[in-house]
This record gives sequence, structure tokens and C-alpha cells, in this order.
Amino acid sequence: MTTLTIYEDKNPDNVVVSTTDPNEIKSLLDKVGVAFERWKAGAELPENATQDQVIAAYKTEVDRLSAAAGYQTVDVIRITPDNPKKDELRAKFLDEHTHDEDEVRFFVEGSGAFYLHLGDKVYQVVCTRDDLLSVPAGTQHWFDMGPEPRFTCIRLFVTPDGWVAKFTGDKISSIIPRFGEQVAA
Ligand SMILES: [Fe+2]
Repeated sequence: MTTLTIYEDKNPDNVVVSTTDPNEIKSLLDKVGVAFERWKAGAELPENATQDQVIAAYKTEVDRLSAAAGYQTVDVIRITPDNPKKDELRAKFLDEHTHDEDEVRFFVEGSGAFYLHLGDKVYQVVCTRDDLLSVPAGTQHWFDMGPEPRFTCIRLFVTPDGWVAKFTGDKISSIIPRFGEQVAA
């Protein structure tokens, strides 16, 4: 389920907000300049749909967002728990970093967690099917696909070459609960 949990960055035991209401999530993210949308497919997708089929199913939304924000290229990434490199892939973006351009992801299926470090708070956004999240350029953040990653995402870029992680060296991601490892309250 799509969830927003806001932690105090110095005291992650203190959960400021926890909500699964999509309207509240959108409103709270709007306030900090982070775009969150929910998209519906324009066509039924077969299982193991090709990249072209996935993009075609969401063409209207992809074209609208690309025109509005200047995204030039689109691709599809799919990761499943049987990927032999899943631990390596998970580790790649687990430390706090920034990019020179927006990190834009639409979840066609599956889930993953973005963590946005905004001021003295960390916003954990667990994205699931139909969620679009755009992490603005320069935002300190990290991404956790969890120990058993499963997702298909459409990625939108201005220039894929420009989308390089610049690590901040801050170890904050190690003290905030990981995705898929949180203990139910
Ligand atoms: Fe990133």
C-alpha cells in the first residue's frame, strides 16, 4: 500500500506523520515541492509486457509530464527477486545522494521506497502500482528496493547521462528504518 511516513532525521523513533491516504500524501508532498500523482493505464497490459507496450499504455501521461518538465527520454526497468544481482542493485542507491536532474519514477507494478531528506525530516514514500513520484534535482534522498525487490518502473529523464548519483557522505540512511525490514507496530 502506498504510504508516507515522516521521521525526525535526528530521532527516527519519532514518527511525525504516517498516512496511507493518497490525497493526504499528495498534499503533504506538494507542500515540499515534490510531485506525486496516480496514473491509470490506457490499455490492459499483458504479464511480462515489453518496454514498448508499457510505455504505450501510459503514453498520454508520459507525454504530458515530458512536455511540462522537459523530459526527453523514457525507459522501463524491471527487477524481480530472482535477479542474481539484487543485493548489489539494492545497495547502489541506499546511501544518501543527489542528482543534477529530477528522479522520476512511475510504478507499473510492485513497490519501492524513496526517502527524501528535507530539512530536519525524512519523508519515506513507499510507492506501489499507479504511483508517480518526482524527486526534484538536488534533493538529498535515497531509494530502497527492499531485500526481495519486485517492481516495474517507467523512468523519465532529461538526459540519462546526467542522471548520476552524487553521494553526500551522510550516513543518515543507516538509522532510518529500511524498506521491507520494518517491524509492525
Ligand atoms: Fe537517486
